[in-house]
Parts: sequence; C-alpha cells; structure tokens
Amino acid sequence: MAQPRNFSFASAIAGALALCLLLIIAAAAVVYGGLFPVAASSEDGAAVRSLLIEAREHSVERSAAGLTAPSFTAEDVRLGGSHFKGMCQACHGGPGAEPEEFAAGMNPRPPNLAKAAGDLTVAQVFWIAKNGIRMTGMPDFGKTDEDEELWKVAAFVKQLQKVTAADYAALPNAHEHEEADEEAGHHHDHH
Ligand code: HEC
Repeated sequence: MAQPRNFSFASAIAGALALCLLLIIAAAAVVYGGLFPVAASSEDGAAVRSLLIEAREHSVERSAAGLTAPSFTAEDVRLGGSHFKGMCQACHGGPGAEPEEFAAGMNPRPPNLAKAAGDLTVAQVFWIAKNGIRMTGMPDFGKTDEDEELWKVAAFVKQLQKVTAADYAALPNAHEHEEADEEAGHHHDHH
C-alpha cells in the first residue's frame, strides 16, 4: 500500500506547484499587462483597505515600541504647534483651518489628526512624522527636520483636540519666513 500513498503525496505537491505557477503567471499578467490600478481616483475595496490599515497600525506599534518620549514644557508644545502649521496643516488641516484643496484628491485622504491621533501615543506620532508612511503621500520629515522639533510637533498633535480655533489662529507659522525667503530667491538650508 506504500506506493499509492507515495504517489498521491507526490501528485498533491505537483498540484500545489502548478497552482503557485498559475498564481505567478496571473500576477505577472496583471502587472505587465498594465491591469494594476494605480489611479489615485480608484478606490480600494473594503477588504484591501482594512488589510492596509491593519498593516500600518501593527507596523507603527512595533516600530515605535522602543521609543521614549521626552518631557515637554508648555512652550515646547506651542513651538510644536507653530511647526505643525507650516509642516502638517496643508494636508491634515488644523483647528478651524481647512487642508489645502489638493489634499482632497489624495488617496488615502490625510485624516483630521485631532481625531485620528487619538488612539496613537506621542511616540507613535513622532515615529510617523519622522519616517512617513510609504505609498500614501505621508512624507518622512526625518530627512529635513531634527528629532527634537518632531517630538514637539508630536506633543502638539496629541493636544490638538483641546486647541481652540482662536488659539490655533494666534500661533505663528514657524516656516513662513523660510517660504518668504525662498520666494525672494534667498536659498538657505532649512534649520
Ligand atoms: C503631503 C501631505 C501630508 C503632509 C504634509 C503630512 N501628512 Fe501626515 N498623512 C498624510 C496621509 C496621506 C496620511 C494617511 C496615511 C494612511 O492612511 O495610511 C497621513 C497620516 C498621518 C498620521 C497617521 C494617522 C492615523 O490614522 O494613524 C499621522 C500621525 C500623521 N500623518 C502626522 C503628520 C504630521 C505630524 C505631519 C507634519 C509634521 C504630517 N502628518 C504631514 C499626508 C501628509
């Protein structure tokens, strides 16, 4: 009886390999045939969307697990707010401030952080700001900005829910003078 059992085991393996090959061919046909939808205007299905969200949440949790937030003074948080205005508001908006129009055409849409950051720790917000989220349009500010500044921005993001539109409007934009300088043709390194 050993032989037929061996035979069926071998044919099961062969079947599995054939299936793998078929899947690889199908994937190649989708990619090289130009069938993969890259348009930002095309929506992900509910299953794909929730898979991507799970992947992001667990990756951020794992990556930020070893980080310890410094302590912040009220002045640190205020400074973080004026950087937020210049670095984050364009996409995410702020208290009483709409995002720029282009943000409405992004997929995924940059969320309102007063709500979306509610479940995140300061360290997780810092990690996201420093490293970005690939394939979403969320930039990594670690390339251009110091950790010290990004921690302050993260501390401000965690306070966003409590910031009134009036207080937010009163914050100076920490990046405005740089933009004005650049428009005037004075090139210099950020920070
Ligand atoms: C060019 C647009 C853009 C800018 C500028 C930007 N973001 Fe984002 N951000 C995004 C997008 C798009 C997402 C959504 C990513 C996703 O759905 O996975 C996102 C997601 C996030 C998240 C995760 C929210 C969640 O639901 O878990 C945080 C936190 C965040 N951004 C913080 C910041 C901070 C802080 C700044 C400024 C330092 C900033 N972002 C600047 C586009 C931007």
